[in-house]
Amino acid sequence: LQRVLTGITTTGTLHLGNYVGAVRPAILASQEAGVESFFFMADYHALIKCDDPERINRSRLEIAAIWLAAGLDTSRVTFYRQSDIPEIPELTWLLTCVTSKGQMNRAHAYKGATDANAAAGEDLDAGVTMGLYSYPILMAADILMFNAHRVPVGRDQVQHIEMTRDVAQRFNHLFGKGRDFFVLPEANVEEDVALLPGLDGRKMSKSYDNAIPLFEGGAKGLKEAIAHIVTDSKLPGEPKEPEGQTLVTIYDAFASAAQRQQFRADLRAGLAWGEAKQQLFDLIDAEIAPLRSRYEALMAQPELIEATLQEGAAKARAVAAPLLAELRHAVGLRSFA
Ligand code: TYM
Repeated sequence: LQRVLTGITTTGTLHLGNYVGAVRPAILASQEAGVESFFFMADYHALIKCDDPERINRSRLEIAAIWLAAGLDTSRVTFYRQSDIPEIPELTWLLTCVTSKGQMNRAHAYKGATDANAAAGEDLDAGVTMGLYSYPILMAADILMFNAHRVPVGRDQVQHIEMTRDVAQRFNHLFGKGRDFFVLPEANVEEDVALLPGLDGRKMSKSYDNAIPLFEGGAKGLKEAIAHIVTDSKLPGEPKEPEGQTLVTIYDAFASAAQRQQFRADLRAGLAWGEAKQQLFDLIDAEIAPLRSRYEALMAQPELIEATLQEGAAKARAVAAPLLAELRHAVGLRSFA
């Protein structure tokens, strides 16, 4: 049995990048035969980036509703909030004790912060919390707690999975005594949409303010966001080079091979950007409109989502607790009797 696991940080609502990079591939993987899946809301991770309790709580509900609306089947998938699994922070500590500080110095999130501080002439660690610094260890615990084989993520998370493998190897080596406690996970990156660009062509991200929201604002919001995608200044009728255009990359993430080819041919033949944007809207909306109405129905039933997540937490803890007991024993935290 192959285990597939992925999580999403609950600091806001989701954008198209999260959907094509993580949610859609994860749901598809969960439908394969011989796969057992673990999908969760990374709400401990959210505390690193956000100190607005209302926003964090709201986001947990929204993201749970998005997963369910996107077709997550709770009879096949263990679906939970990270913070409902106390074994995860406990494992985080065991892993923290075998992780070298030097490796954490190289983690993207931390390096990004120190590089920005250096550029601004500030103290390197200004505004850096220990949460941000050890973020990858908490993520390693998420993955190793369930011994996942495959982790569907966007390309921006690949470094974290590599770090998880290192931490797992070190732990196995130090305490395994010939047996491996942890499976070494593989990142599962959907090559076509490894990193979806946002309105301005940079990686689509909440923090760049260039995101196209998945459901927020409804069909109207989607259309308005698409209107803001930056294109070159070619006029209607002028031939356009499709490759490298943000609009085309986003189109590809939702299109069949035949549609991709046709869209390119039309642009080369002079399709107006306004018309291209309309086609992009139609394509995306055809896929997500049914999900959007399920989402709206689910958001009206928070008690149903709460019950679903409570059940998921019980299922997840039934897997986590026995492994954690073995790990505690392995590191020397044993009963005297
Ligand atoms: P987060 O919440 O930033 O993003 C959730 C998922 O969306 C993917 N993603 C993208 N994919 C394609 N194009 C984009 N523009 C884009 N932007 C975001 C991310 O790669 C991710 O897969 N640390 C993780 C959450 C996490 C996790 C885990 C993931 C916590 N524990 C264990 C996997 C396994 C994060 O902050 O993702």
